[in-house]
Amino acid sequence: MKIFKTRREFQQYALELKRSGKSIALVPTMGFLHDGHMSLIDIARQKADVVMVSIFVNPTQFAPNEDFDRYPRDFDGDVAKCIDHGADVIFAPEPGEMYDEDASVWVEEIRLSKPLCGRSRPTFYRGVTTVVAKLFLLAQPDYAVFGLKDAQQCFVIQKMVRDLDFPIEIIPAPLVRDADGLALSSRNRYLSADERSRALSIHQSLLAAKTEIVANRESMDEALERARAVITASGGRVDYVDILDCRTMEYPTSKSTQVIVAAAAFFGTTRLIDNEIFDL
Ligand code: PAJ
Repeated sequence: MKIFKTRREFQQYALELKRSGKSIALVPTMGFLHDGHMSLIDIARQKADVVMVSIFVNPTQFAPNEDFDRYPRDFDGDVAKCIDHGADVIFAPEPGEMYDEDASVWVEEIRLSKPLCGRSRPTFYRGVTTVVAKLFLLAQPDYAVFGLKDAQQCFVIQKMVRDLDFPIEIIPAPLVRDADGLALSSRNRYLSADERSRALSIHQSLLAAKTEIVANRESMDEALERARAVITASGGRVDYVDILDCRTMEYPTSKSTQVIVAAAAFFGTTRLIDNEIFDL
């Protein structure tokens, strides 16, 4: 296992690998790795000669009132898991290493990133696209794996790659859940036992909405309203429960085929997201 802490050494190493004809798959993460992250590393392992994992809690995607300072970290545990799953390289820059002090360039997607999390976290996606663009130029990957737990993020990155001609294939990976249905997330660590059991209502309400909408497309708005009510009744504070066309990230039309029903809700101070993707 090779661990790089500086941009320069990491990029140098990646460029050497490319010159020697190796294929590279990158899994970008913010660390505190769980089985959802590991499933991405397993997919990367099947795709390329060299698997790289980046571990970086990216300050530019957190708003001042968010959890950047208390975001959970466990570097040694993360390294052990990466070794266990056959990753070859970890890139883990210190906070001050990733951006120059006078950095003044953003990479911003301005359409797919607007609804859902983009509405309640208006500076989130430009932080994500900027850091991921940098990671792509540092790691020189042929493939990059992104989880559909963060489906909108995955779609925004696919659009960035298409619009800016990055020679990279984005591989979407299925959402991984705990046995009880809760979507795995590093932020689940913040939940008390009581909040955690109440938070199961997010997935349950999305499943109920999906069943209702598949049976009757005309019932979309009522189904979403019921889902919001279920989460609220479980003590959650709903940020959004919406349905969008996966391709346009706009409200579905008669032409829409694949849709996403996505939710974000607070349990205590913890904001959780989840979604179901399905064909109408
Ligand atoms: P992070 O939340 O650490 O997630 C890293 C990757 O793991 C993302 O692609 C995310 O979708 C995936 N992931 C997380 N939980 C998952 C689950 N339960 N099932 C499947 N995949 C899951 O997303 C980020 O970090 C950051 O925004 C990043 C892309 C690294 C940019 O800073």
